Amino acid sequence: MRVFGSYNESGGVGKSTTAVSLAMVSAEEGHRTVLIDLDPRGATTKWLDVEPKEEGLHVGAILANDEVEGWAKELAVPSSWHPNLRVIPSHRSVSNREKDSSQGLELRLKESLIGLDADVVIIDCPNRQGGPLTLSAFYAADAIVYATSATQDGVDGVEGARKSVAEFRRLRERQGATVDLVEAGIVVGNVNETIMSRVAINAIGELRETGLLLTPIVPSRTIVQEARTVGQWYGNFRKGEPVVTAYKEITRKVLA
Ligand SMILES: Nc1ncnc2c1ncn2[C@@H]1O[C@H](COP(=O)(O)OP(=O)(O)O)[C@@H](O)[C@H]1O
Ligand SMILES: [Mg+2]
Repeated sequence: MRVFGSYNESGGVGKSTTAVSLAMVSAEEGHRTVLIDLDPRGATTKWLDVEPKEEGLHVGAILANDEVEGWAKELAVPSSWHPNLRVIPSHRSVSNREKDSSQGLELRLKESLIGLDADVVIIDCPNRQGGPLTLSAFYAADAIVYATSATQDGVDGVEGARKSVAEFRRLRERQGATVDLVEAGIVVGNVNETIMSRVAINAIGELRETGLLLTPIVPSRTIVQEARTVGQWYGNFRKGEPVVTAYKEITRKVLA
C-alpha cells in the first residue's frame, strides 16, 4: 500500500482536483484505491457525493479516538464512480481537531490505515500549515504531491508546503525515526495552454527550477468545474478527455 498527500499551503489551487483525479485514475488503472478527505470544507466529499456509513463515521472519528487501528477499512464507503474506489468522507466538525491538543493525535490517521485492503491511498489535505490535520497527513503519507495552479498564490503555497515538509523531516530526524516522507513532485493544473499568460509562464518557470515538476501541465477545461457541481467525474465527458489524459500520465509517474 502506498499513501500520498495532495498538498499546498494556498487555497483554491487544485489540491482537491488533483487528489480526486489521482484517485480516480488509479482506480481505473486497476488499483484498489481509497481517497481520504481530510479537509473540513469537504469539497471532495461533496464532489463524490458520499456520506458516512453512520452519522459521525467520517474522518473526524479517526482523529478523535484512541486505538483506531483498522478504522480506515471500516469507515471507507464505496464510490458510485468506480468499483475500485472508496472514500473516507470529511465533515465541518473535523476543524475542531485543529484546536485539539491530545497526545499523539497526529499519529491516529496513520494507525487507522493498518489492515486497509488498498493499493493506493490519496489524502486530500487542508491548506492549514503546521496544524494537527496537516501533521496527520504527513505522518500517514509516504509521499507528498504538491498540487498547484500556475499563479503566484500557487507558487507561494508550494514554497510554504515544501518548507513544512522539510521541517517535518527534521523533526522526525531529531526523534531518531527513519525519515520516510518524500516529495513525489509538483502537479500544475488548471492552465490555459492556448493563451498562456505571462504570470503562468513565470510560475511554471519557477516551479520547474525546483526539479520537481511533473509533466504534462494539466490543461484547464470548464467541464472540470461543471462536472463537480453535479457530483460527476469529468472523465465521463468528452470535453474532459485532455484533463484525464494529463492526469493519467502524471499518475503513472507518481505510482512508478
Ligand atoms: N484542470 C482544471 N480545469 C478547470 N478548472 C479546474 C481545473 N483544476 C482545478 N480547477 C478548478 O479550480 C478551482 C480550485 O480547485 P480545487 O481543486 O478545489 O482547489 P483546492 O483544493 O486547492 O482548494 C475549482 O473551482 C476547480 O474546479
Ligand atoms: Mg480542496
